[in-house]
Amino acid sequence: MIKVGIVGGTGYTGVELLRLLAVHPDVQLTAITSRKEDGLPVADMFPSLRGRVDIAFSSPDKADLSKCDVVFFATPHGVAMAQAPALLAAGVKVIDLAADFRIKDKAVFEKWYKIDHTCPELLEEAAYGLAELNRDAIKGARLVANPGCYPTTMQLGYYPLLKAGLIDAGSLIADCKSGVSGAGRKAEIGTLFSESSDNFKAYGVAGHRHTPETSAQLQKFTADKVGLVFTPHLVPMIRGMHSTLYGRLTKDVSNEALQALFEVQYKDSPFVDVMPFGSHPETRSTRGSNMLRLALHRPDNGNTVIVLVVQDNLVKGASGQAVQCMNLMFGLEETTGLTQIALLP
Ligand SMILES: NC(=O)c1ccc[n+]([C@@H]2O[C@H](COP(=O)([O-])OP(=O)(O)OC[C@H]3O[C@@H](n4cnc5c(N)ncnc54)[C@H](OP(=O)(O)O)[C@@H]3O)[C@@H](O)[C@H]2O)c1
Repeated sequence: MIKVGIVGGTGYTGVELLRLLAVHPDVQLTAITSRKEDGLPVADMFPSLRGRVDIAFSSPDKADLSKCDVVFFATPHGVAMAQAPALLAAGVKVIDLAADFRIKDKAVFEKWYKIDHTCPELLEEAAYGLAELNRDAIKGARLVANPGCYPTTMQLGYYPLLKAGLIDAGSLIADCKSGVSGAGRKAEIGTLFSESSDNFKAYGVAGHRHTPETSAQLQKFTADKVGLVFTPHLVPMIRGMHSTLYGRLTKDVSNEALQALFEVQYKDSPFVDVMPFGSHPETRSTRGSNMLRLALHRPDNGNTVIVLVVQDNLVKGASGQAVQCMNLMFGLEETTGLTQIALLP
C-alpha cells in the first residue's frame, strides 16, 4: 500500500483528494493536516467520508509526513516549497497542486506570485504533471508540479494543432469559464452566494497567473512564438470549467483531418474524450469524474478552428490529475481509482 499524506485536507482540492483516495485500492491514508482543525476526525468535518476515512486532522508541525511514501500539497502557493526539500531528502515523493514548481523561470514565478522562491534548485527537476503530454517524465519523478486547472484545458486543446503547425501560434485566444469552487474554500467576499450567484463576470483580464504557465508550456509545442490572450470568467456554478479556444488556421486542412488529428493524439489517453466534430460538450458531463471532453468546430468552414473543452476543475483540473500522476509515479495503471462516471443531472 502507498502511504499518503495530504497537507491542506480541509480545502476543496484536499477533500476531493480524500474522496478519490479513500476508495483507491493501493492507498493508505496516513496523515491529513489542518492548522485549525488539529485533532478533529476528518469525517466530522466531511460527513461524506464517514465510514471511509477514520483518521483525524493533525497540525502540519505534528504530522510525521516523513513516514509517507508520497505527500500531496493541496495548499496555497509557497507552502510546498518550504517543505519539499526535507521530504525529498527523506525519500518521500511530492505532488504539489499549487504553482510552486510549475514555472521553471524563478524570476517569472516571483513576478506573478509575489513571493521569493526558496528552493529554485528543484525547479528544473520537477516534472510537469500533465500525464497526456508528459507521461514518461512523471513516471520517473520524485517531485511533480500538478498543472493549473485552466492551463490543463488550454494545453490539451491547443497541443495537437500547434504540434502539427496548423494554426497561427501568435494569435491564440482562450475564453475560459470556471465554477466558484475554483477559488477554494477560504472565505472571500467575491465567492459569497449573494455575490457570485445569479451573476457572470470576467476577471484577471489584464493578466492572470495561469497565462505565464500556459504560455511557457505551449511554447514547447512549437518553434513559432506563442501569443496567448487568456480571459477567465466566473460562472455561478459550483464545479466545472469550460474553455473555448480559438485558432487561426494557416494551412488548408479538411475537417475530417482535424478530427483525426485529435483522435490519434489522444487514443491512448483514457481521460481525454474527443467527441464527434461539431459536438457541444457540457461541464456536467464531467462533474465528479477525471474525464476531460473536447470537441472541434469550424464556423462556415472558414479559417478559424474552435476547440471546446470541459472538465471538472476539482478533478481533472486538480485532485484527479494529481492522483493520475501518483499512479504513474508508483507504477500503477494510470486509471487506478479514477474510473468514476460523471454525476448527471
Ligand atoms: N480549487 C480548484 O479548482 C483548484 C484547481 C487547481 C489547482 N488548485 C490549487 O490547489 C491549491 C489548493 O486549492 P483549494 O481550492 O483546495 O484551496 P482551499 O480550499 O483554500 O484550501 C487550502 C488548504 O490549505 C491549507 N493551508 C492554507 N495555508 C496553509 C499553510 N500555510 N500551511 C499549511 N496548510 C495551509 C488550508 O487548511 P487549514 O487552514 O485548515 O490549515 C486548506 O486546507 C491552491 O494552490 C490552488 O491554486 C485549485
